[in-house]
Amino acid sequence: MQDKAVDDWIEALLRQMTPEEKAGQLVQLFEFEAGDPDIAAEVAAGRVGSILFVRDPAEIQRLQRIAIEQTRLGIPLLFALDVIHGLRTIFPVPIAMAASWDMQAIEAGQAIAASEARTIGLHWTFAPMVDIARDPRWGRMIEGAGEDPFLGSAVAAAQVRGFQGAALGTPGRIIAGPKHFAGYGAALGGRDYDEAEISESELRNVYFPPFKAALQAGAANVMCAYMALNGVPATGNRWLLRDVLKDEWGFTGFTVSDANSAYDLCEHNFARDPLDAGTRALNAGLDMEMSLLVKYSAFRHLPQALANGDITEADLNEAVRRVLTAKCRMGLFSNPYADLATCDVTLADPAHRDAARDAAERSFVLLRNEGDLLPLDRDTLASLAVIGPLADSARDTLGPWVFDHDLDETVTVLEGIRNKVGEHIRVDHAPGVSMIARQNPSFFDSLPGLEPAARVEVDDDAEIRRAVEQAKSADCTVLVLGEAQNMIGEAASRSSLDLPGRQQELLEAVIATGKPVALLLMSARPIDLKGAAPGAIVNIWYPGSQGGAAVANALFGEAVPGGKLPFNWPRSVGQVPLPYARMKSHRPDERNVRYWNEEGSPLYPFGFGLSYSKFEYSNLRTARPVIMLGETVDVEVDLANTGRYVAAEVAQLYIHQRHGSAVRPVRELKGFRRVVLKPGETRTIAFELRAEDLSYWSSASRGWVQDETIIDVYVGTDSAARLVTSFEVRSPEDQ
Ligand code: BGC
Repeated sequence: MQDKAVDDWIEALLRQMTPEEKAGQLVQLFEFEAGDPDIAAEVAAGRVGSILFVRDPAEIQRLQRIAIEQTRLGIPLLFALDVIHGLRTIFPVPIAMAASWDMQAIEAGQAIAASEARTIGLHWTFAPMVDIARDPRWGRMIEGAGEDPFLGSAVAAAQVRGFQGAALGTPGRIIAGPKHFAGYGAALGGRDYDEAEISESELRNVYFPPFKAALQAGAANVMCAYMALNGVPATGNRWLLRDVLKDEWGFTGFTVSDANSAYDLCEHNFARDPLDAGTRALNAGLDMEMSLLVKYSAFRHLPQALANGDITEADLNEAVRRVLTAKCRMGLFSNPYADLATCDVTLADPAHRDAARDAAERSFVLLRNEGDLLPLDRDTLASLAVIGPLADSARDTLGPWVFDHDLDETVTVLEGIRNKVGEHIRVDHAPGVSMIARQNPSFFDSLPGLEPAARVEVDDDAEIRRAVEQAKSADCTVLVLGEAQNMIGEAASRSSLDLPGRQQELLEAVIATGKPVALLLMSARPIDLKGAAPGAIVNIWYPGSQGGAAVANALFGEAVPGGKLPFNWPRSVGQVPLPYARMKSHRPDERNVRYWNEEGSPLYPFGFGLSYSKFEYSNLRTARPVIMLGETVDVEVDLANTGRYVAAEVAQLYIHQRHGSAVRPVRELKGFRRVVLKPGETRTIAFELRAEDLSYWSSASRGWVQDETIIDVYVGTDSAARLVTSFEVRSPEDQ
């Protein structure tokens, strides 16, 4: 339908609706157990507009039929789920995908996730999470793209394109809902759900850009954050939802609360009661409310709020209009049922598994490779010890936020290695130590279908001895250590960055054998290894369904790691938060005075990642030494692969503004290119710096500015790049 036809049709429908039916469209309920009679009754009564968490295609069909056949107006339901990094085919966790700096792989991965979701009848995902995360104690950094707004914006847009396609309603695609608006990643102390206090300049320069990028890519939904931003709960925050999102940015999609976060306005001691909560959320700009249970719905009180005159009919209609438009654009009024005949074929598509493996290979970050320990040589290696409590844990290999995965088809690191080496190499395995359970089990662990993996429980002392013996008798040891999948994610913040349990002891004991050790870190936050120095370290994140196969390819050189850290890696937890984009201050060059007990610098800088090959940058140049305000400048650099492998490198461009109306960071990412070069190949990499890359929101003038200034441009392999040039920005009036 054309825009006008959609609008007219929705207006006609709106005119027929009672206040109760309108409120019903704005309520979204969880269905935790298929067949729940209470949910079916709510749907039949027209009190629900959307359901989340149903994964059984037949149940989706059943509930949709009730909505269509048993309600007065027959308005179809929107079905939603957190399809975060795949449905059946599980891709690496989002931060791993960001570490690939490969926007095509990210888009392609989410397109596959969308196709699997749509085939079972889902219409909408609560993704991407685009929250900037600068505090690794916060477990949800795993769901985002890390600490940087420029990278975060590119990743956000790529994910939205993948989920939604070119336009809302593209066949085989689903609605994307960037979340959590806004500032959720800045939770005090890294404690999930705690309040965030963020200045307007920080919001506009750092936290908002990925949301804007997601909206520019067409995202049709936005989810509110749980916590209070600067003292006002995000779900009742009119400045966020109306002034910025809808009025200033012109967002025409619909907003949804986080689970119970409208009702929770009472918990925040903000709203007086659920009626007040619903009233204030709607007035603030919330369109749909997500509720854990019917009794937690604040929006079911909207008819009362209307009768009391606390909300207007116009505002109620506006919210309903946004929800109905999404349903209409998704084609639900004409085609509400999924074609289940194609389900199995789509879910079993081997191309999806190949894409997941390929994505994992692109995401690995090689942090250390002394004496070129990696890649391992299959021809000369006779034996390998694969040690660690995560080496053979399928559930942990997938990471958090997976529901419809198949553990039987998940390849662990141990399996991947065994499949690769066959009979040629002896492979021994020992867990090495127990994987401890979380001290405080998460709410998620209790949800049906989300039970944590069976924990490895062994006699640690005896097991460490056994692992050491295995390491001694093997040519090389591959250690797989990190955090279990439920130790990171929602409600999984930590006050420590250490390896949980006795893994550090195991690591040190195996290194002490003097035999070569390659450490694979299965984690999504920087881990403090306390100076332990195995020959090689690779961050493999939670690599997904085909993770073990991808790891084996990387270990034996069939894939060359080219991933780059999407965050600064601190030396210890006491340093956090430690963003690379810091401001200069008193005694700027003496970072060691920042702490007297340790360096102020990170262990590995943002953007860092080695390769089996070697890369050299040279000849950095800008097209012009002077530009005028508003103009674009071209920057070029020559990049050579001087090593022995065909390999990917991510060339990164950072700027630094020497003076201006406000202080700007020492480095800010403003461009990157991921390229694959053959040995001996040199390529010129071109970047473009546009006026918007040189502009920022200034606290001094409380608005966007571009200063007359000098800009230093650094290009290289990470945020510590040394190759530098500069150009001047002048005002045309000074000519
Ligand atoms: C999370 C959201 C998620 C929702 C539904 C909440 O607890 O914060 O990110 O989309 O649950 O699962």
